[in-house]
Amino acid sequence: MSQTVTAQQIPPAPVDAKQLADALRPFGESRMLPRGSYFDPEVLAWERRHLFSGWVGLGRSDELTRPRMMKAYPAGDGGVLVVRQDDGSLKGFENACRHRGHELLPCDGSTEGRAIVCPYHAWAYRLDGSLLGAPGFKDVEHFDTTEFPLHEVELREWQGWLFGNMGTTQPFEEHISGLEPIFEHYDGADLVTAELHEYDVEANWKVVVENYQECYHCPSIHPELCQVSPPASGDNLNPQADWIGGTMELRDHAATMSLDGHSGGAMIGRLDEVEQRTVMYLGLLPNLLISLHPDYVMTHLLIPTTPERTRIRCSWAFPRAVTEAEGFDPAYAVDFWDITNRQDWAACESVQRGMANPAFLPGPLAPAEDGLYDFVHYVARKYAGEG
Ligand code: FES
Ligand SMILES: [Fe+2]
Repeated sequence: MSQTVTAQQIPPAPVDAKQLADALRPFGESRMLPRGSYFDPEVLAWERRHLFSGWVGLGRSDELTRPRMMKAYPAGDGGVLVVRQDDGSLKGFENACRHRGHELLPCDGSTEGRAIVCPYHAWAYRLDGSLLGAPGFKDVEHFDTTEFPLHEVELREWQGWLFGNMGTTQPFEEHISGLEPIFEHYDGADLVTAELHEYDVEANWKVVVENYQECYHCPSIHPELCQVSPPASGDNLNPQADWIGGTMELRDHAATMSLDGHSGGAMIGRLDEVEQRTVMYLGLLPNLLISLHPDYVMTHLLIPTTPERTRIRCSWAFPRAVTEAEGFDPAYAVDFWDITNRQDWAACESVQRGMANPAFLPGPLAPAEDGLYDFVHYVARKYAGEG
């Protein structure tokens, strides 16, 4: 697990100084991030330590429905084991055994049980992380089980998402500051995940976020999306502490984002008139992209696996009553976004290949790429050590 770092302690990232200075220029004059930041393993190591070291999105908390369920999530430099306690609360632990460090569960693995048992030499821990027993140590003098509890990772559950504190002193409330009013009517904790897709995309994780933050590409590659949402509609929100985002409108005939604009679910209960006609695209940095629709919420959770590869867990969540209704089928939302996702991933992978030439120079941003600029500027400031 990363050590706690404060903003002042962040060392600059190992990127080209001139290209970084260009990325930091005001919108309209700036360039994209330094080319090396999309390829260099040292930059990804820096990002894991300094960008993925605060509050990091892990997944939807409804993945662990019953007491004694546990799941391992990749995060930052390591992984987090999340365990549903007997009283229904959640606890998080560093996913490493206190004996010789074996993962307690493989990354993304899940299981259920009365104890957490390491698969290597079978050290067993209670659900609260305390060490229950270690085979062969019964007669070992001075071996004290209380010295070897699992290292706890602070967790927060918010609007149905689970976040792990990977080494920050920043209060969670500050991380999501300004988001509460936006989410207020969506009743996120009542939403149930109906479908989850995993994509393995051969592109740097930032290429994926950048693609998400602009619809300048929509007329070129998303014919289905343009049928239900005008690509130039909506507004960019003012950049906030750790999140960025903007809105897009639905065309008159469309109730939501689906291939024909119809909804196979139901409007989320308390949305106001504007929210009923809007899709909100939010990037809760570093790794959670949240798309609020009038009738469902889609989440892209990004896990950088190498500088040139990103695992994306895309989930679709609907109001609980909708998911429990006879005959409910999330395909109307899932199919639409699966097509759109794949169009996006193809573009992202092409960008990654196109930038491969070391002589490639970061390009300028279009006026419609103001949301993307917010992300680039956020990352560039971190690269510069500005916290
Ligand atoms: S590493 Fe877990 S029991 Fe040995
Ligand atoms: Fe797209």
